Amino acid sequence: MEESSSVQSVISPGRVNLLGEHVDYNDGPVLPAAIDLAMTLTFEPLDEDIIELHALDLGETSTFRIEDLEDKTNIQGEPLAHFALYPASVAWALQGAGYPISGMRAVYTSNIPIGAGLSSSAAVEVGFAQAFMALGGWNAEKMDLVKMAKKGENEYVGVNSGIMDQFSCLFGRENHALYLDTKDLSWAALPLPSNVSIIVADSDISRELAGSAYNARQQACADAVNQLRAFMPGISSLRDVSVDDFEQHKNHLPDEVRLRAQHVVEEIARVEKAVPLLQDGDIKGFGELMVAGHASLRDLYEVSLPELDALVEIALEQPGCYGARLTGAGFGGCTVNLVREENSASFILALESEYQLRTGKTAKIYPCRAAKGAHLVPRALLSI
Ligand code: GLA
Repeated sequence: MEESSSVQSVISPGRVNLLGEHVDYNDGPVLPAAIDLAMTLTFEPLDEDIIELHALDLGETSTFRIEDLEDKTNIQGEPLAHFALYPASVAWALQGAGYPISGMRAVYTSNIPIGAGLSSSAAVEVGFAQAFMALGGWNAEKMDLVKMAKKGENEYVGVNSGIMDQFSCLFGRENHALYLDTKDLSWAALPLPSNVSIIVADSDISRELAGSAYNARQQACADAVNQLRAFMPGISSLRDVSVDDFEQHKNHLPDEVRLRAQHVVEEIARVEKAVPLLQDGDIKGFGELMVAGHASLRDLYEVSLPELDALVEIALEQPGCYGARLTGAGFGGCTVNLVREENSASFILALESEYQLRTGKTAKIYPCRAAKGAHLVPRALLSI
């Protein structure tokens, strides 16, 4: 890439979810944090209406015409490679909403592990949204960028996700967790104590079955709402069902649907309880809710795996660990741990070696801090 003043860069982080799992497609509140594993994207304008992608970490390149976005084909007329669908999906959604997309050469790389539940895709999406905006010279509300990135992922890439990931990757704040009410999109940043580390442990199991199992969970929630409507006609989602309402009517639900809905209703209540705890700096109380959240994901929502359970069990045996749970959709991927800073080095060693001993697998462990959402930076040094 030529040295030029029109070259700009974006840093776009991954995320963990601390609490509120599988509630964002039930209108519930979530408590994620952006982390300092990130995609770095450097870009410059092109005179032609084409987008040239160089994904350095994947060793992939792709070039496509902006006029071919709808067809999902590259400049040779072939179907777009999977990695290219994510940037293309954002261009497609932005253009569909009336924001002009102009030619771009983009060189990017990421240290967010792929397929590990840390939103490597959402980081790409909102990073490119920022880049298209900077290049186009127009301004959109951040929440609108989030909505368009989600629309692209849902309708263009064809992945059925909620809004949490794109929101977290764009709205992240240093040393803060984020509260998002996915029903009305109101949000707040909540401080995380400075002496607590966010430690992410990757189970080394990729989430292969995640797609179909995720859709099945969404369906169970929709079924629960339909069946509960016989007793609570006004409800539009599980968000409208309190723990008390649920207790009163749960026996009318078939077993599996009942278990799934119970997780959602109780997880929503856990998030609401967690907010004042974080505001008061009660990280011990918050950690207890994380542990309860994991048990519920394991026993009621059934999205955990023995390896993720082992990571959580081992973590909770270590000094200075406030809370541990799987993070993201589950079925593999990562756990997130809140650990007192002074214990974090020994925590990492113990988790690594015990996990190996109990499962024969090697966990990759990432000590993280809560980080700022996708933002422009002075040019980052990447080269083709
Ligand atoms: C995935 C989805 C999110 C959310 C989580 C589960 O990460 O992309 O929208 O549903 O799973 O909480």
